[in-house]
Amino acid sequence: MNSDMHILMCAPDCYDVNYVINPWMEGNVHKSSKARAAEQWSALRDILQGYAHVDLLHPEPGLPDLVFTANAGLVLGNDAVISRFLHPERQGEEPHFKKWFQHRGFAVHELPRNVPFEGAGDALLDRSEPWLWAGHGFRTHVNAHPYLANWLDVEVVSLRLIDNRFYHLDTCFCPLSDGYLMYCPTAFDATANRRIATRIPMSKRIIVEESDATRFACNAVNIGKTVVMNKASANLKRQLHGAGFDVVETDLEEFMKAGGAAKCLTLRTNEPPVGQLVGAGAPERWA
Ligand code: ARG
Repeated sequence: MNSDMHILMCAPDCYDVNYVINPWMEGNVHKSSKARAAEQWSALRDILQGYAHVDLLHPEPGLPDLVFTANAGLVLGNDAVISRFLHPERQGEEPHFKKWFQHRGFAVHELPRNVPFEGAGDALLDRSEPWLWAGHGFRTHVNAHPYLANWLDVEVVSLRLIDNRFYHLDTCFCPLSDGYLMYCPTAFDATANRRIATRIPMSKRIIVEESDATRFACNAVNIGKTVVMNKASANLKRQLHGAGFDVVETDLEEFMKAGGAAKCLTLRTNEPPVGQLVGAGAPERWA
């Protein structure tokens, strides 16, 4: 292990595609293999355990998407903002995530019931600058963003998603260490693309083609200079290697049937508060 990062995962004992709340689930109801899902999840966990501490959330019957712990909430320092799922199908997960955070002493923040927010699936801290990239358009409502800014004392950069295959920010956007950003520009409206271009110099932008994005290449877990993902094309690998990253591929096809992959199956639960780590000459997050 080469970092003190803690990652929350949930074994797929109760995982299945039981309903359709995103285009990936269409045609896949009850089409996933329990055995293959278990193998793929264990392989991902084993890889991540080489870099981080993996904590486990208990699976719950009737909550097949609980495996996607990125949607538990958003953690920054000792604060955790619990998700408010848009779809009733996932709202039963909220108390389980809340209990997990409360038992570990986090200060838990809860949005009003009518303000959807889907956690770290839609809110990603930049890995070298003091701001939070926050998606909206499909799941999270933009009205959730000011609550995040206020509770977490962080600048929020709102990005509107426009392609329903990329319904969560983490399906098409992945901040990487050293100020790099891997993302699929066609998933965002023009204003979002301008906001990204203003903040990230061209030399640090790793553009992901739709053919890679639809194989969940942006849905990656970045630890230091390692990027763990389902699959990357030769072109994307070349770009990542050029920026000094190692790419670790691990098949997550069973989870793509529900619309998720590596990043969705994980949540970082020890994010240092922004003010403590960033700023002139400060060490990089998770270096
Ligand atoms: N079936 C889940 C949903 O549609 C997949 C969640 C994927 N999670 C993510 N962070 N992108 O809500």
